[in-house]
Amino acid sequence: PEIITVQELANRMAEKGADLVKSLFKMGQAVTLNQPIDQDTAELLVEEFGHRIQRVSDADVEIGITGDVDAPETLKPRAPVVTIMGHVDHGKTSLLDALRGTDVVAGESGGITQHIGAYQVTTKGGDVITFLDTPGHEAFSEMRARGANVTDIVILVVAADDGLMPQTIEAINHTKAAGVPMIVAINKCDKPEANPQKVRERLLSEEIVVEDMGGDVQDVEVSALKKTGLDELIEKILLQAEVMELSANPDRAAEGNVIEAQLDKGRGAVATVLVRKGTLKVGDTFVIGAESGKVRALVNDKGQQVKSAGPSTPVEVLGLSGVPKAGDQLTVVENEARAREVAAYRQEQITLKRTASVPTNFESMFSALN
Ligand code: GTP
Ligand code: MG
Repeated sequence: PEIITVQELANRMAEKGADLVKSLFKMGQAVTLNQPIDQDTAELLVEEFGHRIQRVSDADVEIGITGDVDAPETLKPRAPVVTIMGHVDHGKTSLLDALRGTDVVAGESGGITQHIGAYQVTTKGGDVITFLDTPGHEAFSEMRARGANVTDIVILVVAADDGLMPQTIEAINHTKAAGVPMIVAINKCDKPEANPQKVRERLLSEEIVVEDMGGDVQDVEVSALKKTGLDELIEKILLQAEVMELSANPDRAAEGNVIEAQLDKGRGAVATVLVRKGTLKVGDTFVIGAESGKVRALVNDKGQQVKSAGPSTPVEVLGLSGVPKAGDQLTVVENEARAREVAAYRQEQITLKRTASVPTNFESMFSALN
């Protein structure tokens, strides 16, 4: 049976999808990134790339490659997950705030009461977009390295008066490595010294060719301050998402990733989780990184308690045994004994990793650095 797509396996190993495709081709299999492969092939690849296959028990291949592929008929459309990246002070937070201001639902419910690092915007047309608050680039690559490629689309914010800066280039490289499509938001276009055309030209030397220049990367001129270009930006996000045909099975045990987590004075360990598959419900037993727990309460991005959260929904989860790390995976399991078993296994893996040996040859060292 086919258990995981090439891209997902690549993400979990923190390797480039294209490299896996190449390896598969050498093995005589012509497979594309989004195609699922069977367990034997997955295990071969895992070994070939010098990673270990992790098993919790014979019945269950662990999180390393647990990504069982849902049958096509179980898949339903889900909201795109969008991360905003860019250089310091280019207006990421301002743009996020401005976009949040367009949320029709927040307007109705009396505004956002809480900031949880991730939130959803319902557009005028009724579409939902999930935004991840700009994580530091380190957090982004750390999460990617740990197989938590949670972003569908990156918005690259470039200030039109400042142009491409070191962290812009970094963001571009992270986005390319993650194999995620990018939309360029040229910000601060209200400024008299703004030069959006120069930004587009400069992007060429990073091999990013925007539509105006005959390429296929979407770009839009915005001003987070004057709130211009926002509808167009949202339109482009939705257009990009439509092409990607994003879907997930909402009717299964939930899987998700930690966006951020902390110890809260009154509430104990709290994690903001982005649900990827299935529906997370109050009362569910789960493993989260090397911690386990039972969902005591779920709080949405508007600060409201909810009973459940489906794919692409960010929620705060209460009822954890301890504080997990960003990128950690949440997996709902059948009972508490199983949760403790998996958590203990993961704890052991963490200890093993700490004492792991250094790469023995040049090639594996290179791929370790990669
Ligand atoms: P860091 O989080 O520090 O990396 O910055 P950031 O990218 O989130 O930028 P932020 O939104 O904090 O904006 C930085 C400065 O630029 C602030 O003083 C904003 O008021 C200003 N700014 C943001 N967007 C615009 C815009 O569209 N036009 C103008 N004129 N100023 C803007
Ligand atoms: Mg900011």
